[in-house]
Amino acid sequence: MKHYLQFKDLRAEEYAYLFERTRTIKTRFKNYERYQPLVDRTLAMIFEKASTRTRVSFEAGLYQMGGSVVHLTTGDSQLGRAEPIEDSARVISRMVDLVLIRTYEHTKIEAFAAHSRVPVINGLTNEFHPCQILADVFTYIEHRGSIQGKVVAWVGDGNNMANTWLQAADILGFTLHISTPGGYEVDPKVAGIGSSNCYKVFADPLAACRGANLVTTDVWTSMGYESENAVRMAAFADWCVDAEMMAAAAPDALFMHCLPAHRGEEVAAEVIDGPQSVVWDEAENRMHAQKALMEYLLLGRIG
Ligand code: CP
Ligand code: NVA
Repeated sequence: MKHYLQFKDLRAEEYAYLFERTRTIKTRFKNYERYQPLVDRTLAMIFEKASTRTRVSFEAGLYQMGGSVVHLTTGDSQLGRAEPIEDSARVISRMVDLVLIRTYEHTKIEAFAAHSRVPVINGLTNEFHPCQILADVFTYIEHRGSIQGKVVAWVGDGNNMANTWLQAADILGFTLHISTPGGYEVDPKVAGIGSSNCYKVFADPLAACRGANLVTTDVWTSMGYESENAVRMAAFADWCVDAEMMAAAAPDALFMHCLPAHRGEEVAAEVIDGPQSVVWDEAENRMHAQKALMEYLLLGRIG
């Protein structure tokens, strides 16, 4: 049994399979072909933080594959009334085939997974967001081909997305250019990467974008850090991906953002709504990539 808690839980060769599978599943969906390999399978989705994309993509995705979904939040379950996470894991995993969790500390999802009888998927923790980068790398490949050897520029917070991009660079063989304001750097130990060869740190965000094949960013204040918002707004003021940064990147560079976005903060409207932006494909691909992931975790390789 495999869990998907961090990007590094799968190997490069498994990603190659998943990206191919995502392409097939997406093509079938676009052709209105019914594909229901997960009839009678149930996914429990536990959300301790808000979500639009993660909820819709997993819920719609599993229904389309023939399965069903149970949606739980802290507020409407015993999880919010201090039932131990280990007990919740033991109980929930006796009734469903797969569990998705969006929570705060990564240690919470690890504790759940350690007591679960079924695969657990990380729908975002403070430290990681692997399903998002799965879709992002697929989106890059779909538009530009292999990401191996390419340069991805990360402009902004050293957060869950940045940590996950680092793991992806380490595993898939590309270079991450990271520029964060002082005090918001990524911590390679938290990111859990094996080597420092996969990234370069830049004080100047424009320098990080120079020659990049993909420029990407995220909100300045992630969920759970709202009390720091005013301080962050001041600290991140120069970390807005604008037309000048995109002009410094490779001529065919793409722009991505996991969304939700704040135009005028981490990204200029003309960039996210401009011709290099692929954010809507990126959001849609969450569903196709996660269908491939659920199929893989429950059924293994097809064909
Ligand atoms: N990108 C992402 O995970 O979006 P949601 O918070 O809406 O799920
Ligand atoms: N870094 C953001 C991502 C939201 C999808 C957060 O954790 O809130």
